[in-house]
Amino acid sequence: MTQHLTIVDHPLVQHKLTLMRERDTSTAVFRQLLREISQFLAYEVTRDLPMTKRTIDTPLQEMEAPVLAGKKLALISILRAGNGLLDGVLELIPSARVGFVGLYRDEETLEPVQYYFKVPESLEDRLVIAVDPMLATGNSSVAAIDLLKKSGAKNIRFLCLLASPEGVARMKEAHPDVPIVTASLDSHLNEKGYIVPGLGDAGDRMFGTK
Ligand code: URA
Repeated sequence: MTQHLTIVDHPLVQHKLTLMRERDTSTAVFRQLLREISQFLAYEVTRDLPMTKRTIDTPLQEMEAPVLAGKKLALISILRAGNGLLDGVLELIPSARVGFVGLYRDEETLEPVQYYFKVPESLEDRLVIAVDPMLATGNSSVAAIDLLKKSGAKNIRFLCLLASPEGVARMKEAHPDVPIVTASLDSHLNEKGYIVPGLGDAGDRMFGTK
C-alpha cells in the first residue's frame, strides 16, 4: 500500500457505520454490523497482496491460476475491542494466523503497559494486520506496533473502524511505514480521549458492558 491513510467510502460501509454510531443500536446489531464492515475493510487492506500462479485442472482443461503467494498472513487483535473486528476479518481470510496484544494504561504514567502478548511465529515473513476498532490517541496502537516490530514484524498494516486526526498523526510520526485503513476519519478527540462524533466506547458497545 502506498497511501498512509485509506478511507473506505463504500456506500454500504458508510450506511452500516451510521447505524453503528446511533446511540440506540443494540449490542447484537452493533456486533453484527461490525462483523459486516470488517469484511469490507479486510477486502481493502488486502487488495494488493502478492500473487503467484498454480497449475490446476478445471473440468475442461489445465490452467495456470492465481493464488496468494508467501506465508499465511498474521492478524493481530489489540484487546479487547480488536476481537470484534477480528471475527469478520477471519471469515474472509480463514487460514490467517492470529495473535493477541493486551495493553492497559498505567494510571500514573499514562503509558500503555503490556499484560498479554502471544503472536504467530515468523512474523518477519508475514504480512501483519493489526486490528483495533478505534484509533483515538494512538497510544495503544503505537505501543502494540512497537511490540510487533520487536517481535520481527516488518510489513504491518493497521485496520480500524474509526480514526481521529490526532491518532493518525501520532501513528504517522511513530510508524510512517504502517498504512492505516479505516471507515472514517472523524472530527477530533474530546478531553476524555473519545472520538467525536464517534460511537462511544467500542468495547462496551460490542460486549454489552458499561
Ligand atoms: N476507544 C473507544 O472505544 N472509543 C473512543 O471514542 C475512543 C477510544
